[in-house]
Amino acid sequence: MFENLSKAPGDKILALMGEYAADQRSTKIDLGVGVYKDEKGVTPVMTSVRKAEEKILSNEKTKTYLGIAGNKGFGTSVLDLVLAGSVDLSRVRIAQAPGGTGSLWVLMQLINRARPGATVYVSDPTWANHNPIAINSGLKVATYPYFDTETRGVKFAEMLATLDKLGAGDVVLLHGCCHNPTGANLSNDQWDQVAASLLRTGALPFVDLAYLGFGDGIEADAYGTRKILSTVPEALVAFSGSKNFGLYRERVGAAILIARDEKEADITNSQLLNIIRGAYSQPPITVPRSSAPSSRTRLCALSGKKNWRSCVTA
Ligand SMILES: Cc1ncc(COP(=O)(O)O)c(C=O)c1O
Repeated sequence: MFENLSKAPGDKILALMGEYAADQRSTKIDLGVGVYKDEKGVTPVMTSVRKAEEKILSNEKTKTYLGIAGNKGFGTSVLDLVLAGSVDLSRVRIAQAPGGTGSLWVLMQLINRARPGATVYVSDPTWANHNPIAINSGLKVATYPYFDTETRGVKFAEMLATLDKLGAGDVVLLHGCCHNPTGANLSNDQWDQVAASLLRTGALPFVDLAYLGFGDGIEADAYGTRKILSTVPEALVAFSGSKNFGLYRERVGAAILIARDEKEADITNSQLLNIIRGAYSQPPITVPRSSAPSSRTRLCALSGKKNWRSCVTA
């Protein structure tokens, strides 16, 4: 079965993480994966997260399946956070998904169902995982000019000129804020121009929103996304809660779709749910299993019992 396979290239960033962990030098500096770290170099469990986990564990009443679209309350909250009323919700659907990456994956699959082999235009450069996700979903990838290595800013005139030449059926992947890997972002006025261009050409905006709040705060960072979504008839958003919630390993994310009207939203959503069902069936509830004993120990301590097992079975 496997004799014809050749070795796949490793992921450079994740490989660097492993090399960093193995390096014994005390002077080492981690320039690998961009996760939040405190002054001791630890990516902490936030106090609010710990409290929420304890609350969830103590109140959890069932282990039954969540459903294909995941946790409904989570979906409503993400829509509040991302859209803040900028789009009529009758045209919007959301599905909880495993991280921003899982959201990108299911939405790329959706694009390929709607327009098999469509071209996704990504910024030059873009996050290294965009291309493989698009290609593995059956799509083509092309670039639009983005980073100016001289000015360290955005080549906006060239970017806009390229976007202006696209048409209906093309997809434009935009970093909602905190562009990865360059850190060069559009001004509000430039977002306005991009939104107008997308409206003119009919190309589909696909916003990757992985760092909401990490740039200039939630409202300022959401400007571009909300501007685009409130301007065009159709759009997609892959939301990641990994960074802004400090929940990297729980895989917190959501796939959002905006259709022209309620009827198309329902039909498109049925395809999205069908894709999810045929992939991982449903998203996980994001309570970390690995930390369950320690959380339970704490819950036990609160209830005055010594052993967390006797506590949870009580
Ligand atoms: C631009 C961009 N999109 C999406 C993601 C995916 O995040 P997640 O860990 O939620 O899958 C990342 C993570 O580094 C990212 O930088």
